[in-house]
Order: sequence, then C-alpha cells, then structure tokens
Amino acid sequence: MAINLDRPDLFVAVIGAGAMGRGIAQVCAQAGLQTVLYDARDGAIAEALTAVGKGLDGQVAKGRLSAEDKAGVMQRLRPMTSLADAASAGLVIEAIVEDLGVKRDLFRALEKHLAADAVIATNTSSLSVTEIAAGCERPQRVGGLHFFNPPPAMKLVEVIGGLRSDPTMVDALVAFARRIGKQPIVATDTPGFVVNHAGRAYGPEALRIVAQGIASPREVDTLMKEAAGFRMGPFELLDLIGADITHAVMESIFARYYDEPMYQPSAQLSVRVAGGLLGRKTGQGFYDYTEAPKASAPTIAVAPQTKPASVWIADEDGGNDLALLLNAAGIPATVGGSPDAHAVNIVTPLGEDCTGAALRLKLDPARTVAVDMFGRFKGRHTAMKNPLTAPDALGAAVAALAATGTPVTAINDSTGFVVQRLLAMIVNVGSRIAELRVAAPADIDTAVELGLNYPRGPLALGDMLGPARVLAVLDGMQAATHDPKYRATAWLRRRAALGVSLRTPD
Ligand SMILES: NC(=O)c1ccc[n+]([C@@H]2O[C@H](COP(=O)([O-])OP(=O)(O)OC[C@H]3O[C@@H](n4cnc5c(N)ncnc54)[C@H](O)[C@@H]3O)[C@@H](O)[C@H]2O)c1
Repeated sequence: MAINLDRPDLFVAVIGAGAMGRGIAQVCAQAGLQTVLYDARDGAIAEALTAVGKGLDGQVAKGRLSAEDKAGVMQRLRPMTSLADAASAGLVIEAIVEDLGVKRDLFRALEKHLAADAVIATNTSSLSVTEIAAGCERPQRVGGLHFFNPPPAMKLVEVIGGLRSDPTMVDALVAFARRIGKQPIVATDTPGFVVNHAGRAYGPEALRIVAQGIASPREVDTLMKEAAGFRMGPFELLDLIGADITHAVMESIFARYYDEPMYQPSAQLSVRVAGGLLGRKTGQGFYDYTEAPKASAPTIAVAPQTKPASVWIADEDGGNDLALLLNAAGIPATVGGSPDAHAVNIVTPLGEDCTGAALRLKLDPARTVAVDMFGRFKGRHTAMKNPLTAPDALGAAVAALAATGTPVTAINDSTGFVVQRLLAMIVNVGSRIAELRVAAPADIDTAVELGLNYPRGPLALGDMLGPARVLAVLDGMQAATHDPKYRATAWLRRRAALGVSLRTPD
C-alpha cells in the first residue's frame, strides 16, 4: 500500500505544542492544511496558539502577510482536546518531550484511533526513528520529519525512513515537506542524522583550541568570522544554543557512535554546564551578557613594532601568495633561499606547528613566525609563535601583516593554527557522513548550509580548500598528537589521492 500524503484535503495533527510543535503546526496551516494541535499539559495549546497569533501579527505589521491570510491561518489551526480527535488525520507529526518511553506510549495510544493508512512522523533530534517505531503495532507507518528551530523560519527538514518504514514513506514525506514550503533532504536513521552529526566538528574543536591556551574564545570567534567567513563564531553559537543543550548533543552522538573519538565531548564544557554558565539564557557563558560588551585581553600581547625592512618566507604552500601580498604593501619579501639577513622568517605550514616547521626547515626558532595561508583568508591574518619566538620577531611579523590593511590575531603554537583545524575537522566529519551513507553528498552540503548556517557545506568547503590540502592538515594533526580523532576518513583520502571533488560518489 503506497503512502499518500498529497491529497488536497490532507488533515494534519501535531502532538506537542512546545517550541517545535507550535511552529510546525503554524507552517502546516500556512501551507493551507487543516491542522490540529494537541498537548498533554493544561493551558499549553492556548499558550501556543497565542504565540502563533503574535508571531503572525508581527508578519502582518512588516507587510509580509495580509490580515486576511493571518485570519485564514488561525482558522485552519485548531486545538485538539483528545487523541481521538486525530482519527481522521492522514499525518500526525509528533513533537513531544525527547523520551523514548513517553514517545512509544503516545504512539501506541494514537494507533488505537488512527486509520490504517495514517502516517506518524516523529520530530526527534536524538532518538532512533526505528527504535520509536518498534513500539508500534504498525511500525511501517512511522517515519521521521526533523524540523529545525524555529520551524517557520528554518527552511530545512530532514526526512528519515526507519528500517521498518513502508518503502514509499521517504518519498511521501519528501513530497509533504515540499508541499509545506520546506527544503527536504533524506537521511538514514543514524545518530544525529546529518545536521546534528555535522555540527560535531565546529564547537568541540574550538573548545579544544581554547583548552590548550592557543587563543581565547573571542579570538577564535573573530578568526572564524573574519578569516573564514562564518556568520557566527563557535563560542557565540554555544552561548546562543546553550552549553547544556550542546553538551547533551555532544554526549549523545559520542555515546551513540560508541565512543568514536572524532565526537569526543569537552571536559571543560561539562564543568561550565555544572556551574550554570550556559550562555545567553543565564546571562553568562563564554561572554557576559549582563554588562555592555568590553574588550578582552589578547592571548598574546604583541608590542607595537615598526614594519620590517624585509621578510623571508619559506617556499611552501601559500608562500608566494603571501609574498605578493606583502610586496603590494611595500614590504620586500624573499621566498626561499637564505633566511639569515632578515628580521623575521615566516613559514606557512599545513597541519604543522611553528616549532615543527622551524626545525624541519632548519630556521632559528627565535626568529620564526607561522602565518596561516590555508584559505588565502582576506579578512584577518593569523600569526603563530613558537615557545622561543622572540617578541621583536613576532612584532615584526605582525607589523608586516598589518601593513597589508588586514587585522592580525597572534596565537600560541598549534598544529593547524585555529582556522585550519576547525575547517579540516568540519570537512572530515562531513566526509564521514558521506562515507557512512547517511545522505547523498549534495544533500549533506544543503543540510549544513541551511541547518547550521555555515557559508558552505563541508564537502563544498573541502573542494574549495583542496582535498589534498585538507588531508595534509589532518595527517599533520594526527602525526603530531597521535590522537585518533584527527584520522582522515577513507572518503577524503581516496578523493584527495584521485584529485577529484569530495562530492564524487563511489
Ligand atoms: N528545540 C529544538 O531546537 C528542537 C529542534 C528539532 C527537534 N526537536 C525535537 O522536538 C521535540 C520537542 O521539542 P521542543 O523543544 O518543542 O520541546 P518543548 O519542551 O518545548 O515541548 C514539548 C511539549 O510536549 C508536551 N508533551 C510532553 N509529553 C507529552 C505527551 N505524552 N503528549 C502530549 N504532549 C506532551 C509538553 O507539555 C510540551 O508542551 C523533541 O523530540 C525534540 O528533540 C527540538
């Protein structure tokens, strides 16, 4: 029996009138569908309908919606007083508390009322669709429709088929998501689906960078925004979502992938959660929201220095580009040859720290500074010292970089700087999602762009940076740390070796 959700009179029941359920119900009603909303808590439905009405009033005030259209939405969106009211629903969307037992109880109770061909879609973020369905009399009627918060504003919906879902379930839910104006992507029933899985690179690696004293949260955020073009830094994002929520997702994905090191949660974040430094909602997180923003001390105070007469740059990845940049700013730069006559030697390593590059190239560590040329970043430079870099050499490098008109952040030694590490991890986790067949390569990129608001999806990002260069960063990080969390996926390694796009299917 093929599932049919495209009949014109499709009637939708949304169970759970919290943050997600009310938004999902609004989206359905705005798409012209008769929709009912149910919640187990007294007063919850009325609160939700009031909130939806206020939200729509805001749209009317901005001229995005007519008063008649608002009235139509509110007329199509009605309260549901008992589960029996869902009897004629063709689709039930569940958005109740994230608890397997409670969801299974609800599904069993619902099944008593539903028609044989009615579909139940769960909005779960962290449970398995298959596992929820296993508690049902007819598991083939259960699928996943994962919306993002807030549902009216977020375009993406992940569609998930459970292992026992009807074979026509995924296509039917994809068509439904399009019908209500969303962009669906199809994901397999795996921990975190695509978006919450792909998000396990940015925050955790940023937390490790700060834990290792390489840069401050503000410096990491500034670099990711200005150098790498992200709309939000990882710490701004942690504060917005809440450290408790993010930490719980980190723990869940790590546990559900059976302690995969790539997804290791942050011990530092767990202490912050325990201490109530949750972010915006508690007024204090990585930033203080109780007072006007104030400048914080840099990790490395660089003494002001006049521009050096000339600099020496290692003849490696990005060296010539950096020389062109400095020459255009009036600073003569020598690429390769003898470094001896210069105030500062600049190295541009991929997946290597300043210490390692200085020693490998037989440079004087005291006169050596590393500059991150991974992304040919236009908005901000990174100057990285090693433990022996002399203050005047660091100052000279910073002055030379600043002469290009681009601000500079000075950081402590790190295999992969800040930006290299974060971008390489994002690409590697994206490659792992592709390797595990969680979703098609193009869908992985779409999901990350729309669901996480990154400037590019992870595979497109890897293609832009060059798969072989991303691999060099990861291999360098793994060689330096012997930490398996940095091991590159076979998906990435193969495509880097073949010189093809990371979106290339097998
Ligand atoms: N908040 C998010 O960012 C987000 C994003 C995507 C998916 N989700 C998922 O959506 C679901 C709901 O999340 P939320 O943030 O809206 O939660 P919420 O706490 O805001 O709302 C849950 C609602 O469900 C009601 N409820 C609890 N048990 C019920 C039952 N047995 N029957 C009927 N109603 C019941 C509660 O009274 C509450 O109003 C969860 O599965 C969550 O994982 C949340």
